Amino acid sequence: MGIALIVGTIWKLSQNLYISIALVELPMELINSHVEGYLAEIIPDRDDVLTEMEALAEKRDFPIIGPLVGRLIYMLTKSTGARRIFEMGSGFGYSAYWFGKAIGKDGTVICTDSRSENKELAQSFFKRGRINARIDFHVGDALELIQSVEGDFDIIFIDIDKRNYPQALKKALPRLKKGGLLIADNVLWSGRIFDKKPDADTAGILTFNRMLYTTKDLFTSIIPLRDGVSISLKG
Ligand SMILES: C[S@@+](CC[C@H](N)C(=O)[O-])C[C@H]1O[C@@H](n2cnc3c(N)ncnc32)[C@H](O)[C@@H]1O
Repeated sequence: MGIALIVGTIWKLSQNLYISIALVELPMELINSHVEGYLAEIIPDRDDVLTEMEALAEKRDFPIIGPLVGRLIYMLTKSTGARRIFEMGSGFGYSAYWFGKAIGKDGTVICTDSRSENKELAQSFFKRGRINARIDFHVGDALELIQSVEGDFDIIFIDIDKRNYPQALKKALPRLKKGGLLIADNVLWSGRIFDKKPDADTAGILTFNRMLYTTKDLFTSIIPLRDGVSISLKG
């Protein structure tokens, strides 16, 4: 009788533990780690400046698009012949560096970030990469800055706080040229898009992704590369 009680209690405890573990929302592996490792290994080395920026991002645990997405935005810039780019959320300039290298001497990349120390750091990298003349870095709220700068853009890149993505889309759309590209990073948000109780950032991403596919003027593809990249063509 005593043994039956002990076995029963252990069984109940193990069931409860199993249920608790199953309820914990674990971060999701978006890309199979073997595929990710293969892609990271096969791409060519970056120049000294990008390599240093990648090391700095790793050291500070600062989120940058990384080289796989960097190569994608470089290719999109070159292949569309983009001349004017607006970046919402530039950090210390890693993604802007890829845009700046691709855009050529006559192009302009307008960078925005809410932190002035990011501007200073970014400018030192742009100078070393000899692209500083093509880049105009504004400190402030990207949602306001996109309304205060003049002209339309061939590419608008969104990488600010995720809860503000829907607002960013609303403000970016009128400033994007017909035939232009709206690109956004983190649209799969480490799998948090599946959370049962999405926080404000996750809710921002979920609304944004729906808007990308339901906005009449946009034709969108989401690429499950790194943390998810959306590319939308304005028709
Ligand atoms: C993910 S990081 C950008 C990384 C950068 N795009 C890269 O890949 O190198 C996001 C940046 O957006 C900035 N940020 C967040 N919300 C912003 C806003 N509303 N306006 C301007 N900058 C913002 C933060 O200060 C941070 O540096």
